Amino acid sequence: MKVGVFDSGVGGLSVLKSLLEAGLFESIVYYGDTARVPYGSKDKQTIIRFSLQALEFFTSHRVDMLVVACNTASAYALDSLSAQAPFPVVGVITPGVLATQNKLDSKDASILVIATKATIASNLYATKLQEIGFYNVKSLATGLFVPFVEEGIYDGKPMQSLLEYYFSGYSSPNALILGCTHFPLIAPALSAYFGKDTILIHSGEAIVEYIQNTYHLPTHRPLRSLEFFASDDVNALKLTAKLWLGDLYMLYKS
Ligand code: DGL
Repeated sequence: MKVGVFDSGVGGLSVLKSLLEAGLFESIVYYGDTARVPYGSKDKQTIIRFSLQALEFFTSHRVDMLVVACNTASAYALDSLSAQAPFPVVGVITPGVLATQNKLDSKDASILVIATKATIASNLYATKLQEIGFYNVKSLATGLFVPFVEEGIYDGKPMQSLLEYYFSGYSSPNALILGCTHFPLIAPALSAYFGKDTILIHSGEAIVEYIQNTYHLPTHRPLRSLEFFASDDVNALKLTAKLWLGDLYMLYKS
């Protein structure tokens, strides 16, 4: 089975990592719209238009399924993509909500959603969480973490300042939804800030669980091909892939 993984840029590599670890797909085509990142500060119509353009790319690559790794594109473009795609399209938001539900014992639990400005403005995580009974949900746009991660700043003084800037008015939630592709990279800093009792919800892990449960795909399949494409410098994307994927990058075959 061949899957397409779509992101606004390099961030979706965090989701790709989870897919590779699970071994759900034999062939993977990753496309990052690096020429037009970030999506998180753009408006709905632009995000939909860019996502539908990416769909043309994946259709021409004859994928069997599309994973929208980007939270922002998942928040705004999933319906348009699903309506036009000749294959199933899976976004990260519903899986993230279900993973949160699975990990929390009580509907009284406090949940903090952090994501880009656009994802927070869509209110989709909060709406879906409220629909299943969680009433103690807060949402916060924390888009500055994105350039930090892209600069390789995962900890240290600048990260500490940014954590305090965003979270000084917040007490530790029971669950923190990492509603942006880049945030798993700073999971250790977030855990250190909020404490070990805060459960972190990671889009990549959530989507693997969701795909397994929904499509019943066998795991640990050998990977036959992994291809990287970008609308800007593909070598820069591959360099980040090497860094973020570590040993898994050795699976890269084309
Ligand atoms: N991939 C985006 C997301 O997960 C973050 C980067 C961007 O703003 O495009 O929302």
